[in-house]
Amino acid sequence: DNIIKAIQNDTNNNEKSIPIINAWITSIRILKNVTFVDLNDSTTADPLRLVINNNINNEDTLHSIKRLNLGQSVSITNLQVQRTPDRQQAFEFKLQPTSQISIIGDIQPDYPLQKKNQSLTYLRSINPIFKHRTNYFKQQLKFRSFMEFQIHYFLMINNFIKVAPPIITGNDCEGANNELFKIKPTDAYLTVSAQLHLETLLNSTNKTWSLIPCFRAEKSNTNRHLLEFWMLELELAYIDDLEPLLDFIREFIIYLVKQCREHENDLLPRYYPNGVDDRETILTRWDSLIDPSKWNTVTYDDAIKKLQESGQDFVFKPTWGKALQSEHEKWLAESYFNGTPVFVTKYPKDCKAFYMKQTPENPETVECFDLLVPGMGEIIGGSLRENNSAKLESEMDRRGMNKRGELNWYIDLRKNGSVPHGGFGLGLERLISYLFGNHNIKDAIPFPRSADSQIK
Ligand code: 4AD
Ligand code: MG
Repeated sequence: DNIIKAIQNDTNNNEKSIPIINAWITSIRILKNVTFVDLNDSTTADPLRLVINNNINNEDTLHSIKRLNLGQSVSITNLQVQRTPDRQQAFEFKLQPTSQISIIGDIQPDYPLQKKNQSLTYLRSINPIFKHRTNYFKQQLKFRSFMEFQIHYFLMINNFIKVAPPIITGNDCEGANNELFKIKPTDAYLTVSAQLHLETLLNSTNKTWSLIPCFRAEKSNTNRHLLEFWMLELELAYIDDLEPLLDFIREFIIYLVKQCREHENDLLPRYYPNGVDDRETILTRWDSLIDPSKWNTVTYDDAIKKLQESGQDFVFKPTWGKALQSEHEKWLAESYFNGTPVFVTKYPKDCKAFYMKQTPENPETVECFDLLVPGMGEIIGGSLRENNSAKLESEMDRRGMNKRGELNWYIDLRKNGSVPHGGFGLGLERLISYLFGNHNIKDAIPFPRSADSQIK
């Protein structure tokens, strides 16, 4: 890696020697006098291009070259490397007469990947041990790792404390009983959200967050639902208005996208299978997101009115009091707001979870928001939390919750040095899908858990 960095910074294009490369072959092209072998490793988004003179004066090497195949892992020693600013890839490796090529791992004859750009449908359909070896999926792994780092960095420098909430829990934060995974032989569940535990820890840290897997037994098989997904959750103390929360989210996402833009060359794929956004579409989206004036906010009331006046032939009629369907979310973000992100605020309380704070001027709505984006719909949901213990208890009673007192601890939080607070949950795979342009969150996590998962 250090030699590569030195080469990247060497404007004189001097040749340097490199003792060894360990990588995987992604393409072989044999011409009359020269053979090009592309190798993949974690160094760069571009393949590492190995150039071999077919008349090389070394019998062993000539013999090894004939045995090379796409998909093999190889070790190659004694190379020369040079910056090649006028070529597609930034540098080229040259095989020397003293070089040795060793095939570390051979392939089976039916190896399913090819040099040519294979479609996403095909890549999803083959044995899942292979798809991550394509440039597209490798870059997506890199993108996710980069995003996690930038999320951590941004929150760290803004004084947030990352905490470790439990995965096994007795509470059903979102009150969607039929989505719980029960853990036998206990009465506990796999968590659907860390929120209630974050609220607990908020009383000593006042800026808290976590990133953990959450589990929901979703019945529907869509491009935006997983059974196991990673949720970034965050709680902020001493806020009693939605505005600072929305401002914070906008700044946070703009920061992340700016970082993506800055590292674009390292992050974006070199090959785009059919059915995903290409580089230009992604960059246009990123540039638009970075502009704060492109972000919109609308109340649920107004959103329903706009939907009703839209003249669209929706499958579900937009009706006040009913949840927004994905067709409604799509129309708002894609058509009405012209492809920009939009916060929809103050939903009716029966559309949302029990813990949300009542809107002071309207007991029928709550101080909440969903962030909708084109193509994906909701990627973030959040709210102010009801901080008045009497109001919280009566809402829980109204919903028939807490009959066995299992959430008394949550109510007690409000009676012991509590403060007004709020927070949100962001679905990491949905954010990645949106920014990376893959159109399906099952591609944003290496081993997607859905009814049809192939690697258990
Ligand atoms: O809107 P949700 O259900 O909110 C909560 O769970 C809150 N307790 C979060 C909080 O305020 N701390 O989920 C939050 C986000 C959604 O906006 C979505 O991005 C993602 O989590 N999400 C899913 N992602 C993938 N697959 C699923 N089945 C998801 N369900 C929710
Ligand atoms: Mg939600």
